[in-house]
Amino acid sequence: MILAFDTSCDDTSVACLKGDKFSNLISSQIDIHAEFGGVIPEIAARKHAEVIGHLTKKALKDIDATLDDIDYIAVTIGPGLAPSLLVGVSFAKALAYSIKKPIIPVNHIEGHMFAPFFGRKIEYPFLSLIISGGHTHLFLVEGFGKYKLLGKTLDDAVGEAFDKVARILGLSYPGGPVIDRLSKTADPYRFNIPQGLKDKKTFNFSFSGVKTHVKNLVKKMDKLSKTDINNIAASFQRASIEILLKRCIEASRTFGVKILSISGGVSANSYLRAVFEETAQKNNIKLVLPQLSMTTDNALMIAYAASLDLGRATHDYSSVEAYPSLKLV
Ligand code: KG4
Ligand code: ZN
Repeated sequence: MILAFDTSCDDTSVACLKGDKFSNLISSQIDIHAEFGGVIPEIAARKHAEVIGHLTKKALKDIDATLDDIDYIAVTIGPGLAPSLLVGVSFAKALAYSIKKPIIPVNHIEGHMFAPFFGRKIEYPFLSLIISGGHTHLFLVEGFGKYKLLGKTLDDAVGEAFDKVARILGLSYPGGPVIDRLSKTADPYRFNIPQGLKDKKTFNFSFSGVKTHVKNLVKKMDKLSKTDINNIAASFQRASIEILLKRCIEASRTFGVKILSISGGVSANSYLRAVFEETAQKNNIKLVLPQLSMTTDNALMIAYAASLDLGRATHDYSSVEAYPSLKLV
């Protein structure tokens, strides 16, 4: 059994994975950070410290396990917010030391990368699009540990752009789910939002131009009706998703890879799921999406990534440290 922790950002998550039995608890801090319009690292860390012990007890209880059942402890060591990561890493080390079990340090991005395959068979090679508040990365995955970074955002992450555009439109934080909901009854073609880097042959992404376009649009229209807000949100959402979609289709063609997985908070977006599904079918691409509970940050994806290579387990606890800028490749 693997007991796993993820405290990379503002969600505290603890999971247990034992064969096909699992628990996956997430304590969200969204309400606390919403009033600041973004995550305050020191507050996030304090909250992690407050709830991690209780969540651990509950995660074990949920699968009728005790500390004696633990074989490995997995923990996210980066990338993420330094104060937040430190809480998870310190807790994991203290627990591992007291029960004398090895630790498997896990890269948070690797957790997202394999989350869509949880409960399924992993087929290589696949393209992995990771889209969240902090990341917009496109990888070619040729095997476990064999990753090529094809492209990443040159400025804002796509989730960050959703959050910033929501703020410009006077909507609440986090912006992604709100924009997703409002767009359902709006016209995504009402405004034409230029997609930046559009004609260049690149697998990189850019979202700051899309965001600035929305900002200027809002400035020009002196009074926004509810319908205007919804139409701008839907048009922005369409433009952002099209940016992602074009890169993925181009990468599939260039590398001849017919499996595409998408993960991270933005992969919960309903418009994205519909548009990618339709385009994937047309292009004979197999789309692998995570279940909704595994789109955002969660410890089950960390347990699962850990389970894919148990050889990384170590009793040298002092070698396990938090790396806020940890890279995958
Ligand atoms: O993966 P995640 O929970 O945390 C990290 O950033 O690592 O992703 C959070 C991001 C936020 O920017 C949020 O606005 C976005 O994911 N998000 C969405 C949706 N749900 C969450 N964006 C678009 N549509 C959604 N339904
Ligand atoms: Zn994440």
